[in-house]
Amino acid sequence: MADAEADAATGAPDGPRARRTRLSGRLGLRARVTLAFAVAAFGLSALMAGITYFTARATFLSERRATEQRQAFANAALVQNALRSPATDVTQLVESVDTLPGSRSVLRTNGQWYATSISVGQSAIPPAERALVLSGTPATQRFPLAGTTQEVIGVPLPAVHAAYFEVFSLDELAGTLRALAFALAGAALVTTLAGAAVGRWASSRALRPLAGLTDAAVAIADGQLDTRVDAGDDADLEELASAFNRMTANLQDRIEREARFTSDVSHELRSPLTTLSATVSVLESHRGELAPVAQRALDLLDGDLRRFTRMVDDLLEISRFDAGSAELSLEEVDPGELVRRAVAAAAPVDEDGVRRPVTFPVEVGPGVEDLRLRVDKRRFERVMANLVENATQYAGGVTRVLVERQPALTPGVPLPATAIRVVVEDQGPGVPETERDHLFERFYRGARAGQRASGEGTGLGLSLVAEHVRLHGGRVWSERAPGGGSRFVVELPLHPEPSRPDATFASEELR
Ligand SMILES: Nc1ncnc2c1ncn2[C@@H]1O[C@H](COP(=O)(O)OP(=O)(O)O)[C@@H](O)[C@H]1O
Ligand SMILES: [Mg+2]
Repeated sequence: MADAEADAATGAPDGPRARRTRLSGRLGLRARVTLAFAVAAFGLSALMAGITYFTARATFLSERRATEQRQAFANAALVQNALRSPATDVTQLVESVDTLPGSRSVLRTNGQWYATSISVGQSAIPPAERALVLSGTPATQRFPLAGTTQEVIGVPLPAVHAAYFEVFSLDELAGTLRALAFALAGAALVTTLAGAAVGRWASSRALRPLAGLTDAAVAIADGQLDTRVDAGDDADLEELASAFNRMTANLQDRIEREARFTSDVSHELRSPLTTLSATVSVLESHRGELAPVAQRALDLLDGDLRRFTRMVDDLLEISRFDAGSAELSLEEVDPGELVRRAVAAAAPVDEDGVRRPVTFPVEVGPGVEDLRLRVDKRRFERVMANLVENATQYAGGVTRVLVERQPALTPGVPLPATAIRVVVEDQGPGVPETERDHLFERFYRGARAGQRASGEGTGLGLSLVAEHVRLHGGRVWSERAPGGGSRFVVELPLHPEPSRPDATFASEELR
């Protein structure tokens, strides 16, 4: 039944399609929130950086141009004054003009060019600007020169038939702007990373209540149906917590009702069964007086009655598991001794009421004798009895039983033992792969069992085995035995996990 539920939950193609609510996309919730925060931080910081950069650039450039123009016009006035006197040495005049660092003067007078630097003559001035200024219009132009940006301001001096140009390099300003851009890009990067970190932190914090919910769901899946969640004083979680608790309460109620029903039915069937058994016993004692056909009918009745009684007993046991009222009465035992005793007790009884001796070996692996296992002996004996009985019924009997330490004792590797494995092997036909997943379901009987009109089995044996083992915190499975046949492995933990307390949503630091 547990597997059938799992099938439904995963929406297996052959099971009924369960309704599923999709909780998230391809990326995890935390990753998505982190990404969103990072993208938002990047967008905002890039916008701010862009605005800052372009505003600063415009301001710097206009201030720089105002300074340049002031200087160029002052120098032009100076040159014009000097040129009024015919004795002026023009070359000396151009060189004596006071310029900003990195700027140069170019003068045209009497159809000739004079410049402070040989590298920057009239050729450094774009022809359009040259023509414009020489025709009498002051002009300013920015232009690239050998990988740098230059700005030239031309002032016509018509009174002395000359024109004065001053060429400024914008390199220094470009350097400043580059440094500013780097600083702003760095700040944007840091802001983006900070945004991602804040997103990660915020999502972890917001998801923390989910951890409580997950714990509670796991506890419920483990059968602790009385688990409830507590939203603390968080109003946002109140609704979720109460919906979750309502769901769990309904589930618990339903399961308990079903278990009670099974238990009631089984109890009700018990007394008529006792009467029937007593009647059959009476008939058995007068067997000789019965006609042969009545004797055969009596045998059939006896067989079915025994099977029915067993089914009712098994159902009662199962209903206790379902109601959660099955309790362990644990004793500390030597695992090897436990298995030997359980196997001996599981041996069939012959007609005279004498228990047959055990015909197969019980092998106790290395390191097992040093361990002590806490186990409910009655339940463990039921487990072994079921496995031995199945092997007898379906596989010609058990060939050997192994008791092993888990993990295996390896020389030089001091790993502590965590569990004990009890393996029951046979040389029978084995369990077909398709049946293996269903063996432990209630009322599941294999194809072979169905063919055999043994009338003994009920299909509840292995499901009870699984319940007993699960109650111990262990697990049981079936696999192919090395030489054919099948092996059933029961694994019991040496230190079962303590049952978990009620889950709470909020952890302490959240409150
Ligand atoms: N040792 C085994 N070898 C082969 N098949 C087995 C073995 N043990 C169990 N089975 C199969 O598993 C089925 C379920 O077993 P079980 O739950 O004990 O029910 P039952 O014995 O009442 O049929 C059996 O009907 C049988 O087909
Ligand atoms: Mg059985």
